[in-house]
Amino acid sequence: MSDLWLQASGLTKRFGDFVAVESLDLSVKRGEVLGFLGPNGAGKTTTMRMLTGFLKPSAGYVAIMGANSESQPYEARAHIGYLPEGAPLYSDLTARQLLKFVGQSRGMARANLRERMEVVTRQLELQTVLDQSIDTLSKGFKRRVGLAQAILHNPPVLILDEPTDGLDPLQKQEVRRLIRAMAKDKAIIISTHILEEVETVCSRAIIIAGGRLVCDGTPQELLERSTRYGSLRLQLRGAGDEAVRDSLLKLSSVREVELLTANEKRCEYRLYPTARAVDIAEVSQLAHVQKWKVETMQTDSGSLDEVFIALASSVEERP
Ligand SMILES: Nc1ncnc2c1ncn2[C@@H]1O[C@H](COP(=O)(O)OP(=O)(O)O)[C@@H](O)[C@H]1O
Ligand SMILES: [Mg+2]
Repeated sequence: MSDLWLQASGLTKRFGDFVAVESLDLSVKRGEVLGFLGPNGAGKTTTMRMLTGFLKPSAGYVAIMGANSESQPYEARAHIGYLPEGAPLYSDLTARQLLKFVGQSRGMARANLRERMEVVTRQLELQTVLDQSIDTLSKGFKRRVGLAQAILHNPPVLILDEPTDGLDPLQKQEVRRLIRAMAKDKAIIISTHILEEVETVCSRAIIIAGGRLVCDGTPQELLERSTRYGSLRLQLRGAGDEAVRDSLLKLSSVREVELLTANEKRCEYRLYPTARAVDIAEVSQLAHVQKWKVETMQTDSGSLDEVFIALASSVEERP
């Protein structure tokens, strides 16, 4: 069995003339948490629905644990746990009734279902709300019930559509912790537009915009695409002048100098690197020679927000 637990190739969805997802290739390995990023309307939910077999692709194929979702739909689906966007649930059922229903419709044997219900109830801390009807639960608990039904049959592949959307900061943290805890022996995709989530939860991220892949890499690789990556912020006492700028520009590790702010008291520059990063030693040496009073000097490790905005806006916005 290959380590690529989820594979999709040339995945395309057209709604009439509108191409919602265009020729998307993606794969997720065991142990990986793939962040699926993109602005609203980029095609994340449509892609996830094709991956789970809820929506038939216009072109391309999906394989889950080697099972082709078109020719072996039952095998493929059995390996997937899915948390739909907003996690719609049968809200007049209690949490216990819902889990039982989901387990039975997945064909789980009684003893196995009983055991798994105990496990997921413990894992998601649902003990206190099991016999409460779902529509009376808080948002956080509803999402936890949604996650519980997704992992009930202990599937190797998890597809979670905006699992933390609409939760408060504490609940978000809790759901992220759960995802990380499950990651070791699963292949997980989460869609999100919270970039901080990518850094804390994901081992790899892809960005789509306008239905097309625009980026695929580790969070660190994404950061390195930030124009600010490896730049240095330098704050000096005094107003600064053209001479300061010129001498900074002469440094071999500095490609460009941007004046961020200046008044009589202090000035602040951003130095952009010629290679990976501006050489702090080189800048310190110059400051020493020139007798500049350095107030702060700080390397910037880039911003995912900036990368995301640059990539997403490189593609035309759609209705
Ligand atoms: N059933 C549908 N019929 C027509 N257009 C759709 C349908 N489902 C989604 N779309 C369109 O496809 C695009 C992608 O939507 P979606 O996958 O929900 O994006 P995301 O989840 O990234 O916000 C949107 O422009 C949306 O309006
Ligand atoms: Mg969506």
